[in-house]
Amino acid sequence: MTHSTSSDFHQRLASYDDEAINETQEKSLNNIAMSRRDVLKGSLNAAALGFLGLNLSSRLAFAGDNALPPAPYIGFQHIQPRTDPLFDEVVVADGYQAKAFFSWGDPVETGATKWKADASNSWQEQLKQAGDNHDGMHFFAFPNDNNRGLMVINHEYINATLHTDGLSYDEQGKRLLDDVKKEQAAHGVSVIEVKKDSQGEWQRVYPSLYNRRISTLTPMKVSGSLTGHDLFKTVSDPNAIEIIGTLNNCSNGFTPWGTYLACEENWHNYFVNHDKKDYQSRVSHKRYGISTGKQDNYYGWSTIDKRFDATPDDSLPHQGYVNEPNRFGWVVEIDPFDPQSKPVKRTAFGRFCRECVAPAMAENGQLAFYSGDDTKGEYVYKFVPSQRFDKADMQKNRDLLDEGTLYVGRFNDDGTGRWLPLVHGNEGLTAENGFPSQAEVLVNARAAADILGATPMDRPEWATVNPHNLDVYVSLTNNNKRGKEFELNAANPRPNNRHGQIIKIMEDQADPAATTFNWSLFVLAGEKAGSTDAKGQPVPAHLVGDIQGDIFSSPDGLGFDRDGRLWILTDYDDEDPVMVNMGCNQVLCANPQTQEIKRFLVGPRGCELTGITWSPDYKAMWVNIQHPGLSYPASDGQTRPRSTTVLITKNDGGVIGT
Ligand code: FEO
Ligand code: CA
Ligand code: CA
Ligand code: CA
Repeated sequence: MTHSTSSDFHQRLASYDDEAINETQEKSLNNIAMSRRDVLKGSLNAAALGFLGLNLSSRLAFAGDNALPPAPYIGFQHIQPRTDPLFDEVVVADGYQAKAFFSWGDPVETGATKWKADASNSWQEQLKQAGDNHDGMHFFAFPNDNNRGLMVINHEYINATLHTDGLSYDEQGKRLLDDVKKEQAAHGVSVIEVKKDSQGEWQRVYPSLYNRRISTLTPMKVSGSLTGHDLFKTVSDPNAIEIIGTLNNCSNGFTPWGTYLACEENWHNYFVNHDKKDYQSRVSHKRYGISTGKQDNYYGWSTIDKRFDATPDDSLPHQGYVNEPNRFGWVVEIDPFDPQSKPVKRTAFGRFCRECVAPAMAENGQLAFYSGDDTKGEYVYKFVPSQRFDKADMQKNRDLLDEGTLYVGRFNDDGTGRWLPLVHGNEGLTAENGFPSQAEVLVNARAAADILGATPMDRPEWATVNPHNLDVYVSLTNNNKRGKEFELNAANPRPNNRHGQIIKIMEDQADPAATTFNWSLFVLAGEKAGSTDAKGQPVPAHLVGDIQGDIFSSPDGLGFDRDGRLWILTDYDDEDPVMVNMGCNQVLCANPQTQEIKRFLVGPRGCELTGITWSPDYKAMWVNIQHPGLSYPASDGQTRPRSTTVLITKNDGGVIGT
């Protein structure tokens, strides 16, 4: 038996989202929320429209005209970066407090076991507890009760700390089945009920009928054009109607009818295809970087769970599991208000390493959902449903996500842009090029986008939409291959881009369904001009940004609050000498009009900040501390670190950010 080394204990498993797979560049040198259903009655509840109405009315004034929204007030005093290598807490601006709210291993479902500090909980116990690596999340208020809600929280992947002795392999180099099952149980989504107590503080409700874990072991329904399709058939699911589980749920989205959208990001790291010849010709594997080695790229699940070995096996129906990787990379719709509901993989959104699915809705009910494909040189997408949201017909809205148009973005150097439709038959998306129907376009969305001439970006992560004017902001976190494998352009202007940028997209007429837009760079992250690096040398020009205010690197999570403040959450390697001036990862607050940016929160050493949501009154904000490196949240220098949702409030009870 071998274990990962003890130095792995505090280490986050390597992330492979920074590998570049897009080869086309060589050639081109490329709160709405919340509806709220009364689950017990199973009825669609028009109270949803409370919150929705609020946002809609604020949009009415601005969508479609050029009026600027009022500059939001940012009232807190910024804080300094934290550069102490042993910094192991969460610090927030003066007048605010932050406390751990929901950590890996906390009981979720009724009958759950308590978290054991030596990580000896079994996989069956993990299945009822909070998963690992909290990421995107959303707060859904109950109908007619803003003091009670359901929080839905993604658990993206696992750390070696999940097990007492890290990841183990037997003498044959295989993982242990019970360990793999624990890892699968620690992926996915948590639904937890929360309410304000008599002191006005938000607390978890446990037990609750709504508390639920969804994992890599949960059956899901297929919807859209891949239902029953050959590309989805496997030996275990010959009818292509049911997929077991979701993987690598990074960021998220939500709908005006009160459902949560979990995204599947780096799913390719869980699969292997040992047949290198087959791999070379199989776009659905190769264009996504599935492993061809001894095991998958990440945890070695493929050594013990045959579903993750996608090598074609001609002795089995549908060649075994060769199509299993096709069944990940989608948007998973979850109804938190119906704990019995089966999650649905919505295939009309297309398949890539989907970071997020940020919703926008115009006053007329027209929707769009914006997504980043977080790999070096990949694309920004949007999905536009054919039908508008109709608040008078909530039942009809339930199928809105099955029909619509998937687009990919082209960012021209002159500040204009175009959404290119990924539609079978359009501009080379034909049978001769490997796209005999829309199903192939959706499964191989990256390859389809290559043909259309989309712009390769610097790792698109989150998108978010300004509720006051529907401007879309997308974080392009970094790309150290820019200027080498990928050409410089106006939207991605820096070589060896270590610090990233945030790009702003303004749809024509502020119409979410527009096919043309204007764009600008909202901010280039990085150092101030004239700063010095770890060795006291001047920082090179490509690492200098244009931030007005506090420095940061690698923007990742983004979110707008009701008043129009833009919150930015960072994800960089805080031990990399390039980040010496940045300190630990952080949350900042930006004014979209003045572009002023203030540091609001700093997290513990080793973590990234990710996931952001608010209570309906915006007096409580939650953010996630993912993969802390030392001992957070115990912060005692000994306890195993745990990914944790943190609750932030203002001491005077005011709105966060004021
Ligand atoms: Fe899961 Fe690209 O972050
Ligand atoms: Ca991210
Ligand atoms: Ca990231
Ligand atoms: Ca990440």
